[in-house]
Amino acid sequence: MAEKNVKVGLVGFGTIGTGVAKLILEDADSIAAKTGLRLELACVVDTDTLAPRPVKLPDGVLTDDFNKLLKDNSIKIGVELVGGTDAAKQIQLKMLEAGKDVVTANKALLAEYANELYKTAQANKRCIAFEASCAGGIPIISAIRTGLAANNITAMYGIVNGTCNYILSNMTLKNEDFSEALAAAQKKGFAEADPTLDISGGDSAHKLAILASIAFGCEIKLEDIFVEGIEAISKDDIRYGGEMGYCLKLLAIGQRTENNRISLRVHPSFITKDNRLAKVDGSFNAVSIFGSAVGQVMYYGRGAGMMPTASAVVADIIDVALGNSATTFSHLNLKPRNEVVPLIDKISTLVSRFYIKIMCKDQPGVIAQWSKVLADHRISISGALQHEGYGPDNTVPVVITTHPTQQKNVTAALKEMKKLDTIGGEPVCIRIVDIPEDYD
Ligand code: HSE
Repeated sequence: MAEKNVKVGLVGFGTIGTGVAKLILEDADSIAAKTGLRLELACVVDTDTLAPRPVKLPDGVLTDDFNKLLKDNSIKIGVELVGGTDAAKQIQLKMLEAGKDVVTANKALLAEYANELYKTAQANKRCIAFEASCAGGIPIISAIRTGLAANNITAMYGIVNGTCNYILSNMTLKNEDFSEALAAAQKKGFAEADPTLDISGGDSAHKLAILASIAFGCEIKLEDIFVEGIEAISKDDIRYGGEMGYCLKLLAIGQRTENNRISLRVHPSFITKDNRLAKVDGSFNAVSIFGSAVGQVMYYGRGAGMMPTASAVVADIIDVALGNSATTFSHLNLKPRNEVVPLIDKISTLVSRFYIKIMCKDQPGVIAQWSKVLADHRISISGALQHEGYGPDNTVPVVITTHPTQQKNVTAALKEMKKLDTIGGEPVCIRIVDIPEDYD
């Protein structure tokens, strides 16, 4: 088979860019043997051309001049790995307008500006491939778009942030403190340049916006998604939840609810320890999807880091060069907001079970006081835990789990409970997510 030469331009020579360069340079022969495409890294653009990187580019490839890439008409594919939204958006738009197809891992940009970017791509008869934007090396976008094309997707539950999963796993399994676990994730290169995006749940929300848009076939905006991060999670809550049979994960959830509505949320979630997602540890990601025909399918793999993400980027480069991406992109039927406004559930109407920790004074009748508040809001307790010993100010932690109830009932009850002088500090409230399991 005659080989086709494919020149690739790369903007952003950071962690993922380095991985992409390594793959293209070191695996060009095996990629050519498999696909008939000889990938050539023709131009790599970065503002920092001096920093040492663990890959040696051919002479003359690295430049700080983006115009060099833009004006080279032999480069048909431009890879944007700059991250962020401002410069990256201009880079993608310019590459599309210069007649190049775009490959990107930039979830923040797509979550905010997909519509504008897609329109520019369509106007220029180009495509954007973005497999690497969600769940690192897991080909989840292609799975939803093609592998599950025959299904109505009814729900997805995803662990889509490697940093958060690494932190929660280390807090659970190694008894590390939050800050210790975060520092380790940063050292391993999973975390974003600003890790606030990871731990606040923002990065997971970006990925959920992209995945839910494709799964539910309409434009999902970031403001549609309820987001709560893991910053306030303590080892104690992980331990108490563990004693009650639960494991803590940051889940990105997209669900069809009644009357064709959609629930979209990212929040710390207690799931039962025997759930398959509970066994996903470290920087691994997993997405469990429920389809009308297939039932439950789960995709698992490395969700962050240099080479797993590079794997998805290079797969997209190959798909673009083979012409597959142009076809799937042209069939990406995301109804813009001016055509279809999805009905998104408000978090206050969510029906869930809850884990609630109350630090209460160790005195007679205290539990009767706050359990009356729960009863007044029609919240029924399903489990309870109290250890002997004292917290701050002679308080003792009492943990309860509830039967299903509306979020607004819990919010109102907690507000009222805080007024009791027998309770110390803010009660901790974590949703318990009962993920259906598809067993034979
Ligand atoms: N910071 C992200 C994560 C990288 O931890 O998952 C991959 O998107």
